[in-house]
Amino acid sequence: MDKQWKLYEDLDSILYTREQLAEAVAKLGERITRDYQGKKPVMVCILKGASVFFCDLIRQIDLPVEIDFMVVSSYGSGTATTGEVNIKKDLGRPVNGRDVIIVEDIVDSGVTLSSLKKWMDSKGVASLRICSLLDKPARRRVPLSVDYSCFEIPDAFVVGYGLDYAERYRNLPDIGVLSPRIYEK
Ligand code: IMP
Ligand code: MG
Repeated sequence: MDKQWKLYEDLDSILYTREQLAEAVAKLGERITRDYQGKKPVMVCILKGASVFFCDLIRQIDLPVEIDFMVVSSYGSGTATTGEVNIKKDLGRPVNGRDVIIVEDIVDSGVTLSSLKKWMDSKGVASLRICSLLDKPARRRVPLSVDYSCFEIPDAFVVGYGLDYAERYRNLPDIGVLSPRIYEK
């Protein structure tokens, strides 16, 4: 069985199995389908972490969605966010007048997304919602509410299902807590 993969040796525990993830993503897709009836939302995947979640989620949404991709990083660090966001890969098409859903892997301090939210608002979107697979509210440094999320998690460093540590573990089909011995090395 897959959990015999060598990569699993670096985890302390499995937090969500692929089955739990699939069930939660399907429920979220149904919810978004209901909430956006009659609309054609643009779903924006924040690369690279949200990629696996995004591909599963859009296939659970029965609406004429459009998809787009961004690569962003925040200039802000610590408690003071500058409200500026470094766009490393911009949207392919304008989003003014559109209903936009930003899809992220995890909201931690909230710095990245609160900056991106301001940027997106300045583009004249009709509406904007944040969808994040995981939410770590205990770590929030700037106020940011997540409109859609699958799981609230405790303050632990997790990997898998797109989430990385130093670009590794994104390909794990489950989400697990990375053993501190990996990053304390
Ligand atoms: P923040 O909300 O601006 O602090 O940034 C969130 C980003 O930090 C996410 O998009 C992830 O790339 C990364 N991140 C935060 N916590 C974790 C974690 O537990 N595992 C993997 N990446 C994380
Ligand atoms: Mg990331």
